[in-house]
Amino acid sequence: MADKTISKVDFSKYFQPPSLKDARRRRREAVQIINDFSIPEDMQHVGKGKKYLIETYGCQMNEHDTEVMAGILEEMGYQETSEPIDADVILLNTCAIRENAENKVFGHIGTLKMLKLEKPGLILGVCGCMAQEEVVINKILAKHPQVDLIFGTHNIHRLPQLLKEALFGKEMVVEVWSKEGDIVENLPQSRRGHFQAWVNIMYGCDKFCTYCIVPYTRGKERSRHPEEIIQEVRDLARKGYKEITLLGQNVNAYGKDLPNMENYGLGNLMDEMRTIGIPRVRFTTSHPKDFDDHLIEVLGKGGNLCEHIHLPVQSGSSEILKIMGRGYTRERYLSLFHKIKDTVPNASFTTDIIVGFPNETDEQFEETMSLVRECQFDGGFTFIYSPRAGTPAARMTDNVPMEVKKERLQRLNKLMDELSAKSNTKYQDKIVEVLVEGESRKNAEVLSGHTRTNKVVNFSGPKSLIGQLVKVKVTNTKKWSLDGELQEAEVFNQ
Ligand code: 5AD
Ligand code: SF4
Repeated sequence: MADKTISKVDFSKYFQPPSLKDARRRRREAVQIINDFSIPEDMQHVGKGKKYLIETYGCQMNEHDTEVMAGILEEMGYQETSEPIDADVILLNTCAIRENAENKVFGHIGTLKMLKLEKPGLILGVCGCMAQEEVVINKILAKHPQVDLIFGTHNIHRLPQLLKEALFGKEMVVEVWSKEGDIVENLPQSRRGHFQAWVNIMYGCDKFCTYCIVPYTRGKERSRHPEEIIQEVRDLARKGYKEITLLGQNVNAYGKDLPNMENYGLGNLMDEMRTIGIPRVRFTTSHPKDFDDHLIEVLGKGGNLCEHIHLPVQSGSSEILKIMGRGYTRERYLSLFHKIKDTVPNASFTTDIIVGFPNETDEQFEETMSLVRECQFDGGFTFIYSPRAGTPAARMTDNVPMEVKKERLQRLNKLMDELSAKSNTKYQDKIVEVLVEGESRKNAEVLSGHTRTNKVVNFSGPKSLIGQLVKVKVTNTKKWSLDGELQEAEVFNQ
């Protein structure tokens, strides 16, 4: 560790500082599709007899990036371990969405300093969204010389080369491309699940909501070609996967950037998913502004398309929505919500909400509460607004004290809890299809899984059912889960 001094970093070679200004000025340059990923010969066996550990923070996109990095490391011979002390490479795949996510990562980097002293050969890397932020890189350079490697979200496919430099060079390796983003198609993936899988359909975000760092850390919106996606899903179906989740930061913008495919959107892609023999298809995350009628109509056809819609509203006040740059009003959100509810039978709805946006008044917060009451959400994620350096909202003065924000969050959470409990009572005595995911977290004797509507169901049954779709009768409903009795195994035979 001692000789990896930051003074030796050759910035011109490794480091293009992430520029929020450039990101905001991005233009529609053609997206490059890269298909020639391969591991350099001299790195193909470098991990033989060695172990890796990747700590993942944040969203599903990060979870899936971890699967890709794991795939790359395994192709180099590394094996996974869950014990930091056994690891030869530790990567922290980080999240920048809120300050507390970043604080957690810095705390962890601090604790790994001791490990690095014990095991000087250990390669410690920081990647993911935080690595795209200039302030974060500067902080690591200044305070955490135990880090050997920093690379950004656009540099994942360069992991073999970067690892080589970290292993055999003496400098801290920093490679962060502040670019609009390409698509790399043929990366290896070491999937964590054997019956549930993530499938990227697009990358990046062009929405630039005023509070959000994602458009800067993940680059511009770029869609994978439908044929690539369909081929991947077909392959998963052949391998016996039961559920896939199509991923993107703003999946409703899917297809807009595809050359020569005018009018091909998420609705078309979902319609194609219906023809593939995979029992469950989900998608996340939706943006209300781009959620079009064709998609609603296709979702209404059901089949393997799960009737769970995650539809982040962020605020119930049109004034706040405007300052957030969300591109819809309270009324438009509600009308979309009801249209989906009327077209997709028995759909469940979840949402994301930010409380305490700069200068949010009591009245504006009450509008959020009333919208939540009207929609009767099944669940959701609620956050206190967290200023992110470089975003427009972070420059706004804010007259709402933290105490008030916390009190609003508590009231909102109480309401969300009540509504979740209420929505669960509708399942009493009903028979539901459950994908059995494993033992329940609280009791190893109990199995646990999700309904198509994304409700957690716990019930007794043999472990051999893990990975199967079963029918369960709901015998008791709780705030955040359902209890049931197994009726029949294997409701879906492929
Ligand atoms: N502060 C608080 N919450 C945020 N989110 C995104 N940016 C911020 C921020 N700066 C929330 C939004 C989004 C979810 C993934 O995280 O609700 O939908
Ligand atoms: Fe962030 Fe808005 Fe893009 Fe979602 S749609 S990732 S909240 S900028």
